[in-house]
Amino acid sequence: MNDVVIQANAITKTYESGSNSVHALRGIDLTVHRGEFIAVMGQSGSGKSTLMNVLGCLDTPTSGNYLIDDVHVETLNKNELAAIRNEKIGFVFQGFNLLARTSALENVELPLLYDRSGRKRDSRAMAIAALGRVGLADRVNHQPSELSGGQQQRVAIARALVTEPALVLADEPTGNLDSRTSIEVMSLFQALNEQGITIVLVTHEPDVAVYAKRIVEVRDGRIRRDEPVKNRRNAAEDLANTEVLDDDDVTPVIAPVIIPAATVAVAGGVV
Ligand SMILES: Nc1ncnc2c1ncn2[C@@H]1O[C@H](COP(=O)(O)OP(=O)(O)O)[C@@H](O)[C@H]1O
Ligand SMILES: [Mg+2]
Repeated sequence: MNDVVIQANAITKTYESGSNSVHALRGIDLTVHRGEFIAVMGQSGSGKSTLMNVLGCLDTPTSGNYLIDDVHVETLNKNELAAIRNEKIGFVFQGFNLLARTSALENVELPLLYDRSGRKRDSRAMAIAALGRVGLADRVNHQPSELSGGQQQRVAIARALVTEPALVLADEPTGNLDSRTSIEVMSLFQALNEQGITIVLVTHEPDVAVYAKRIVEVRDGRIRRDEPVKNRRNAAEDLANTEVLDDDDVTPVIAPVIIPAATVAVAGGVV
């Protein structure tokens, strides 16, 4: 088995709207290996979502070619694209995109029910297992309205994982979450990546990108920077640190104050 999940060559995407052409992607070359955790960064309008949609087979490029898991995507028709999407890619979106008045379990089961390969699988058991992986084993019967934003996003991540995709694509997954919940979701992504899940995550927030392993920066439809994350952060550790502050509800101590040993001895003597 090849360890390349995505191989995109010279991808362009031009949107025609009336007499106007918008060049959203102007030649993207990108290789993603198994086990990578990439943050795609860039300002609003730089082409991040367009790139995501192309990589995720939700949209076709105007030119260029693209392999996912050794399959030439540009040769596929609509039905074949849908099948590849279902089998190989798990999606996570900013707005969670869960079905309302539908339990977490049924939401997570959905991609398995759309699977047209005819495989016999216990979709219920698989959905329960996926919810367990994101720490929601005790919420399987809850509907989205009965869950917090962070929990809803975890349901969406379970839904992305349930098909055991080659790749998880997440478009601004923390965009609707407060900063603490964002770190929680990033700690889940880091844990899943440790387990071997390949992740491409779109964000415009540098605070979120530091949890990835590699940063790809897009500007005007081109990749302007592609490098490993310097000073990568551990979300679980960051969470533990903010927890102390939340629980104690005290003024945070910014940095430890180093007191010379002699002073301590004197103070001790006085007290
Ligand atoms: N369906 C569309 N039709 C026309 N133009 C679009 C469409 N989708 C995106 N664009 C344009 O393509 C460019 C890139 O958009 P997008 O990929 O959504 O950027 P980002 O996700 O980085 O904010 C923008 O100029 C945007 O207005
Ligand atoms: Mg976008």
